[in-house]
Formats: sequence, structure tokens, C-alpha cells
Amino acid sequence: MKDLAGKTAFVTGAASGIGLGITTALAQAGVKVMLCDIEDAALGAAIEGLRRTNADVDGVKADVSIKAELEAAAVATTDRFGKVHILVNNAGIAGGGGYGAWTDPAWSWTLGVNLMAVIWGVEIFGPLIESHGEGGQIVSTASIAGLISGSGMPYNVSKYGVVALSEGLREELAPRGIGVSVLCPGFIRTRIGESARNRPARFVEAEAPPADAGAAPFISMIRERLAHGIDPLYVGELVREGIESDWPYIFTDAEFEPAIEARFSRIKAGFDRVRGREPRR
Ligand code: NAI
Repeated sequence: MKDLAGKTAFVTGAASGIGLGITTALAQAGVKVMLCDIEDAALGAAIEGLRRTNADVDGVKADVSIKAELEAAAVATTDRFGKVHILVNNAGIAGGGGYGAWTDPAWSWTLGVNLMAVIWGVEIFGPLIESHGEGGQIVSTASIAGLISGSGMPYNVSKYGVVALSEGLREELAPRGIGVSVLCPGFIRTRIGESARNRPARFVEAEAPPADAGAAPFISMIRERLAHGIDPLYVGELVREGIESDWPYIFTDAEFEPAIEARFSRIKAGFDRVRGREPRR
């Protein structure tokens, strides 16, 4: 999508961090943006700040892990702006520990916000983008954790799902005039470490979850990296470029490229083990 000015975008998780960075970068290019978020006060503040820059933006409160709320947000978007050209499935949370600390509510919350909402976003907004024939772009925020896992945490599983969905949809939606990009950020300076602030009551454990032995050093390392992470507006500018040029993968930096190459080597080694054998059929 070369000419962004005058187009309309719907961005989830737009009140904070990467979503606000993407929204700001799109608004600076003349895109009308419907901000969607679960957090009322942050949503209001984000809209107010953007309007002060003359951005044409509005907002809708929705919990994206509830399909009916996303459907209502889509109606609010077309009522307000008419056509939608760009969908940014960005809302996401970090919740739930690894093996030994799993709980059903943490899995449901993480998969609900990080994966099901992306699937529903495409299901609901895809036909709206197709309907006007002007083309469009879908960007979904996964993570580097969607390409290298390193633990059995729900977060990583959800992000692998977003990468898989985006790679597949890219093939399917190209003939329909919709480009598909997956954003895989490294460490970005946002409030993701405080995700529990937006945990809906239905996903809260009745009893304290099992302690994740050994998780404390990992969590403090993550918090430290986030505190000194990349500027979310810089990420937003990359996403804008990715939309303009239909990038399949939008990376924020090359820090984890060697780890991804190492994963490919391990996968290749798996093929090497069976190379030359004749499978019994
Ligand atoms: P953030 O916490 O600053 O922003 C997330 C936004 O999503 C918040 O405004 C929050 O209210 C909203 N949200 C949470 N649950 C929601 C729900 N059920 N319905 C609607 N909105 C909801 O965090 P950040 O980092 O900006 O997160 C954005 C995306 O970036 C997420 O998908 C996250 O997994 C991903 N990401 C972040 C990285 C980082 O280093 N910050 C690295 C890789 C991926």
C-alpha cells in the first residue's frame, strides 16, 4: 500500500507501547486510525494526545479475547470512518509460566488475547478490507518468541501461532489484494511486563498458581531488557514502512538472527538423521 494518506486503520492494543507507536506513525502519514483497547483511561489519554497533533483518530473499548466485542468494534469503525484498509492485530499480554507452573486460566488468557483475537480480527476485518476493492494490509504482532521458543510458556506458543497464521494467510490473501505482514519485535520499551493490569476476571486463577522455580532471574532479566528496550515509535515507523512495501516479516533489530539460524540448523539436523532412508509405507 504505497499511498497511506486518507486510508483507515484499526489497531488493537493501541493505548500503549507498540500499538500506540504504530498508531502514531500511521497518523503522522495521514492515516485515520480507530484505536481499540481494553484499558479505558489509557485509551482516552492516547486519543487526546494524538488529536492534539491534528490526527484523525477515534477509539473503541473492547476486550479482544471476546469475539462479540471485536465484532462490535468493527461496526464502530465502519460507522465512524466508512472503509477499513489496514488491520493491526497488536494487543497482547505476557502471562503464565513454563512447565510446572501451567494453569488453565493462564493458557486461556494468553491464547485468547494473543492468538484467538488475531484469528477473529482477520475473520471480521478481512471481508471489510476486501469489500471496497482498494486493497489493504494486515499486520499481526507476534514476537521473536514466535520464531525461537526456549520455554514451554503459553506466550511463546501463542506467538508461534501468529507467525504460522500470518505466513499461511500471506499466500491466501495476496490474490484478494490484501498483504500480510508479521511483526516480530525484540525487546521494546513498553508496559508488557505489567500485563496483569489488564487480566480479565474470568482468566484469574481461583488459587495462587504454582511457583515457577527458577523464573525470578529470567523475569528480572526480561524486565531489565524491556526497561532499556527500543523506542515503540521507532517500531511504529518500521511497521509503516512494512505496510508501504508489503514486508512479510517486520523485525526491529538483528539481535536474535543467530538464534534463529541455530534453530534452522537444528531442524536441518533432524532431516540429516533420516536422509537416505527409504520410509516404509
Ligand atoms: P503494552 O502492555 O505496553 O501494550 C499492550 C496493549 O494491549 C495495552 O494497551 C493493553 O491495554 C492492551 N490489551 C491487553 N489485553 C487486551 C485485551 N484483552 N483486549 C484489548 N486490548 C488489550 O505492551 P506491548 O509490548 O506494546 O505489547 C504489544 C504487542 O507487542 C503484544 O502482542 C506483545 O506480545 C508484543 N511484543 C512486545 C515485545 C516487547 O518487548 N515489548 C516484544 C515482542 C512482542
